Amino acid sequence: MMINWNNIREEFPVTKKYVYLNHAAVSPLSNRTFRAMRDFLEDATQNGAVNSFRWYETIRSCRKNVANLLNADKTEIAFMKNTTQGILIAANGIDWKAGDNVVTANAEFPANVYPWLNLSRFGVETRFVQEKERRILIEDIESAIDSRTRAVAISHVEFASGFRNDLKTIGEMCRDKDIFFIVDAIQSLGAIQVDVKDYNIDVLAADGHKWLLGPEGAACFYCAKETQDRLINTNLGWMGVINASDYLNYDMTQKQNAQRFEEGSYNTTGLYGLNATIEMLLEIGIENIEKRVLQLTDLLIKKLLKKSYCVLSSLVPNERSGIVSFQGSKHSSAELCSMLRKKNVIVADRADGIRVSPHFYNSEEEIMKLLDLLP
Ligand SMILES: Cc1ncc(COP(=O)(O)O)c(C=O)c1O
Repeated sequence: MMINWNNIREEFPVTKKYVYLNHAAVSPLSNRTFRAMRDFLEDATQNGAVNSFRWYETIRSCRKNVANLLNADKTEIAFMKNTTQGILIAANGIDWKAGDNVVTANAEFPANVYPWLNLSRFGVETRFVQEKERRILIEDIESAIDSRTRAVAISHVEFASGFRNDLKTIGEMCRDKDIFFIVDAIQSLGAIQVDVKDYNIDVLAADGHKWLLGPEGAACFYCAKETQDRLINTNLGWMGVINASDYLNYDMTQKQNAQRFEEGSYNTTGLYGLNATIEMLLEIGIENIEKRVLQLTDLLIKKLLKKSYCVLSSLVPNERSGIVSFQGSKHSSAELCSMLRKKNVIVADRADGIRVSPHFYNSEEEIMKLLDLLP
């Protein structure tokens, strides 16, 4: 299928004012996503909750769409307020014994660090695999694991370098050693294909506001069917039980699906937005989106190297993502970012590098504009 990226671009009003290359931070919304949320707000304003059956239909549709995106079953999906909440469910849900450990990396965003460090009160050690030249080596993960390792917790794509971890290999390692595999997918989901079954993931979490192009505070959560009963549900609330709407029947029997982890009412506005944006992504096709994002970053990397900038991100094809980080020799990254911002080119300054993160609706012309502005 030939995709007309220029037509799709029309759906993103942000392009009128900005060269927006910062999807690894917070993304702009499409018209379609805006309209979906506006329709909900309009309904709630005019009718209160009289039409709430429609809200639940949208939430059901969103759950199915998230499941499709991940190659999961809809019974394995729950909605969270952010990535951190999903990771906390896994971290607090394992029946730790003093002396157990969890393996993560020193390049992780803190959303995937504090939930684990906070387990030290139970005598749980958090082990940090050290990043080497902005890569995390499988052999280093393997050698950090010992007989007391209960979980490996890692991002699909590292937030600063853009390094893409090999989830399939790590997942196989976890399965062979009977270790929980927890994945922060916020820096890949929506731009890079994710297959929770192929990667043997136990728990995955990703908020909507980066590559999914959704609003903040409406996050996807996956818990594999066979993992649901292995986690203690430390978040059990009124919506997590089978008789949720039989309010005074205080029966604690939990739902036989991942919805047991949803404590109470939904962020319905957010889920209207999340549903609309995932529908759009699935229509375009994640394979097509991934190809397009990698084409744009290819162009960027080639031209940066030609201009003698130092590309910090890995150039190994299967370690690449939507994030490219680079440095100049004459100006600090902060200086370059602020110079670009004055010209309405939006990138980020992260971990000594300039982080550029284009999505599918960006154009080659926009990449060239960024390059032309670099001294
Ligand atoms: C890898 C990673 N995880 C998590 C987050 C955010 O977590 P949350 O959705 O809990 O705010 C970010 C960025 O903000 C991130 O880059």
